[in-house]
Amino acid sequence: MVLVTGDGVGTAGRETRTVDAAAGGPGPVTGRRDDDETAGAGAGGARAGGARAGGARADAAAAGAVAASGAGVPAARGEPAVPARLEPSDAGGLSAEAALELLRTGEIAVEGRLVEASNATLFCAVSAGGARAHCVYKPVRGERPLWDFPDGTLAAREYAAYELSEQLGDGLVPPTVLRDGPFGVGMAQLWIDVDETVDVVDLVRAGDRRLRRVALFDAVINNADRKGPHLLPAPSGRVYAIDHGVTFHGDDKLRTVLWNWRGQRFDAAECALLDGLGAALDGAFGEKLDDLLTQSEIAALAARVDRLRSRGRFPQPSDDWPAIPWPPF
Ligand SMILES: Nc1ncnc2c1ncn2[C@@H]1O[C@H](COP(=O)(O)OP(=O)(O)O)[C@@H](O)[C@H]1O
Ligand SMILES: [Mg+2]
Repeated sequence: MVLVTGDGVGTAGRETRTVDAAAGGPGPVTGRRDDDETAGAGAGGARAGGARAGGARADAAAAGAVAASGAGVPAARGEPAVPARLEPSDAGGLSAEAALELLRTGEIAVEGRLVEASNATLFCAVSAGGARAHCVYKPVRGERPLWDFPDGTLAAREYAAYELSEQLGDGLVPPTVLRDGPFGVGMAQLWIDVDETVDVVDLVRAGDRRLRRVALFDAVINNADRKGPHLLPAPSGRVYAIDHGVTFHGDDKLRTVLWNWRGQRFDAAECALLDGLGAALDGAFGEKLDDLLTQSEIAALAARVDRLRSRGRFPQPSDDWPAIPWPPF
C-alpha cells in the first residue's frame, strides 16, 4: 500500500496496486432482490487457526493499555473454541479491549495518506499513556459523495459493520471506533500487520474456508465492495475484513470476489449465527444501530437476515447489477 508521508512516498503493509480510486468508489449500481435459489451442499464451518509470530508494528510497551492476552475462550468439550476478537500478534500485541481503549482515547497523529484509497484514508499513529499503535483514520469530511449512497456516512456504516461483526462474535473486522480526530469526526480502525507471504488471490481462488465467514458477513451487510485488498491475511493465520463504507443499502448490491459458496447451504453454526443476529436486531443491538444507519437500512438489514434464514443458503450473483467489484484485486 503506497503512502504519502512528510518525507515523500513510502510503503506500509503490503505492496498493492489495488485501488478503488480509478472507478471512483463503487460506481453506479442498481439493485433488485435476488430471488435465485440454487441447490448445493455446504460443509461445516472452519475457523482460521495457527499462531505464527508476526511483524508487529505497534509499540505496545506501556502497561495499562496492553491487555493480557487476547487468547480465545477455551473450548468446551466437543465445541469449537471461540476465537479471540483480535489476535494480539496481528496488531502489536494489543488485545481487542486494549486496542479499543487506545482508539477511543488516544491522540491521533497523521503520518501519511493512503494514496490509492478512494477517500481521505489516513495512516496514523494513535497513542495514550505510553501505549502506541497505528490506525486508519477516515474523516467524514474526506468522504467523496456517492450518488447511490446519499444518506448517512461511510464512517458510520464502517462502524456499524464493525459492531455487526462483534455481534457475530468472531472478530472479523479489526477494532473500530467513531470519534473526533485531527480532521473532525471519522472512523478509526486498528492497523493490522499483514502477512506478506500470503497471497489473497490464492486464498480466494482456493475458496479458503476462512473466507466463508466473510462471505456470510457480506451477505448480511449487503457489501457492495468486497475486493481482494479488503481482506487482510494476518500473522496469526486469521483473515480480517476491512473497508465497509458501502454497505447496508436498502437495495441489494452484493458485489464481491467471494462467490465460492454461492447457493450452498448454511451449516448449523451459520444458521445459529443468523438466528442470534435476528434476535439481536429486535433488541439492544437494533437500538444501537439507530444512531448509525437510516431506518430503511435497518429494516432492510432485518429483512435480509430473515431471508437468509428462511432460504438457508448463500446468495447467488444477480444479473441485475455487477456482481464483482472492479478491479477485483
Ligand atoms: N485496518 C487496516 N489494517 C491494515 N491495512 C489497512 C487497514 N485499513 C486499510 N488498510 C490498507 O489501506 C488500503 C485502503 O484502505 P480502504 O479501507 O480500502 O480505503 P478506502 O475506503 O479509501 O477504499 C487497504 O486496501 C489496505 O491495504
Ligand atoms: Mg477500499
